Amino acid sequence: MTGSTPAAPIPNAPEFPDFGSIDSVSCVGAGTIGGGWAAYFLAQGYRVKIWDPAPAAGDKFARLLDAAWPALAELDMVESADRTAWSIHTDLAEAVADTGFVQESAPEDLALKRGLLARIDEVCPPNIVISSSTSGYSMTEMATEAAHPERLVVGHPFNPPYLIPLVEVVGGQSTSAAAVDWAAGFFSHIGKSVIRMDREVPGFIANRLQEAQWREALYMVEQGEATVEQIDRSITDGPGLRWPFQGPMLTFHLAGGEGGMAHMLDHFGPSLKSPWTRLTAPELSQQLRDDVVAGCDIEAGDRSIADLVAHRDAGIIALRRLTASLPAAATGSGRDEIADGQVGSPSSSAAPPPSASMARTASARILGTYSTEVVPEWIDYNGHMSEAFYVLVFGFATDQVMDQLGLDAAYRESAEASLYTVESHIRYLDEAALGDRLTVVPHLVSAGEKKLHLAYEMYVDDRLVSTEEIMALHVDQAEDRVVPFPQAVTERIAQIETSSPDWVGRSIG
Ligand SMILES: NC(=O)c1ccc[n+]([C@@H]2O[C@H](COP(=O)([O-])OP(=O)(O)OC[C@H]3O[C@@H](n4cnc5c(N)ncnc54)[C@H](O)[C@@H]3O)[C@@H](O)[C@H]2O)c1
Repeated sequence: MTGSTPAAPIPNAPEFPDFGSIDSVSCVGAGTIGGGWAAYFLAQGYRVKIWDPAPAAGDKFARLLDAAWPALAELDMVESADRTAWSIHTDLAEAVADTGFVQESAPEDLALKRGLLARIDEVCPPNIVISSSTSGYSMTEMATEAAHPERLVVGHPFNPPYLIPLVEVVGGQSTSAAAVDWAAGFFSHIGKSVIRMDREVPGFIANRLQEAQWREALYMVEQGEATVEQIDRSITDGPGLRWPFQGPMLTFHLAGGEGGMAHMLDHFGPSLKSPWTRLTAPELSQQLRDDVVAGCDIEAGDRSIADLVAHRDAGIIALRRLTASLPAAATGSGRDEIADGQVGSPSSSAAPPPSASMARTASARILGTYSTEVVPEWIDYNGHMSEAFYVLVFGFATDQVMDQLGLDAAYRESAEASLYTVESHIRYLDEAALGDRLTVVPHLVSAGEKKLHLAYEMYVDDRLVSTEEIMALHVDQAEDRVVPFPQAVTERIAQIETSSPDWVGRSIG
């Protein structure tokens, strides 16, 4: 089981299971997306119970797993992962019995989702979060028939969910903030890059962006302005090469040359009035449908869907490795100015924002980011989070690191050994207010056979609010002495790429 999380309680959500107590999750619907989720959960060490009404669902999932497992072994697999730890159930109640989490990935049909979520809700204990993979329905419209809509969330993945880190998490009008927090925390815990949305938007964020391009592409085919192949190559050999490293905003920031986005907007602002996009979908006529399908067949040539999946997966793996290996500064967002302008930090970090770090920092990819929300008890007489609670939050982040390394509750109990923090240095760079969402990005600075040198960056959105550097020793509590890590933990540590933000090693300023 990957990183059990004994500590790291999620404020406001004491009724939901501790991440560390979960050993089994359920996937309702196991097609392209549900099957991809199931493969990912298996690779993360969970037992996966599947419910899918298709008679051949098991065979289909077995084929998907065959294709996904080698890719997962490259990037996102824990040692304890067991590819046989799945079962198909014909009884929904059986599939969610003793589960710690449910991911629904049934067809995109509103009436079906409404009924299905209500059925899952009926048979699942109310302290279990149920997440939907929907591509665009809001939870408000899907939860109308459920008795406990407060624990229903959207956890929108990207295909293939076993390789693409991003998950967009958002609740409906009746969803409790605690359930959204829990889901965001859980996805983070299993290594996903989470965007927690505060409000519902049809299609969420990434699908709206994809859809804009997709509609324009269909229009161009319909109008005979470009072929299917030209459209694909215009992206893969063009702007697509920039997107893994910088999203559309930073890409255009650079399009402004030394003047950055300001020059870009001043220079190209008038183009916004040019007829460069239609943004309205064309009528999907039979002709258009056939043209697009035929174009894809020509482009694919003699490559089967399986060939294309293998090619895509190899590409994503190579890209994720590449982005993870780039120095943080090369992928950072020039945050120096932000922190420098605040609570006097002469050597502020040039680290990337949490979302980017999650995807691009090898340490964070394996160790996960820790996320929580500032609760009323943490607020001091100045109206901001008191310094003691920065220590607490960093402590939770260390608990999560321990879990991910295998130094979890079970280990601590059986080996009577644990990680002791023996030295730390915290910088308080900016204030955190009630309700702020804190994201802590870990860095493994270095590791010895008995010790870890860790660094953490705590963010509110893209604001760096605090950093902590710690030295921690592996201690045998029975013998009261520092001892080497067990072999499995040493091997896990060896998989983590070290990274050292430029503030590490700084003494009191
Ligand atoms: N395909 C994508 O790229 C993508 C990406 C993100 C999200 N999604 C969303 O994920 C969900 C699943 O999409 P998909 O592409 O995997 O579809 P799919 O057709 O590949 O799989 C759907 C699965 O659901 C099963 N199913 C049918 N009726 C069911 C029911 N009543 N209860 C449970 N399972 C049922 C089917 O047997 C099938 O295995 C949809 O909501 C979709 O919008 C899809």
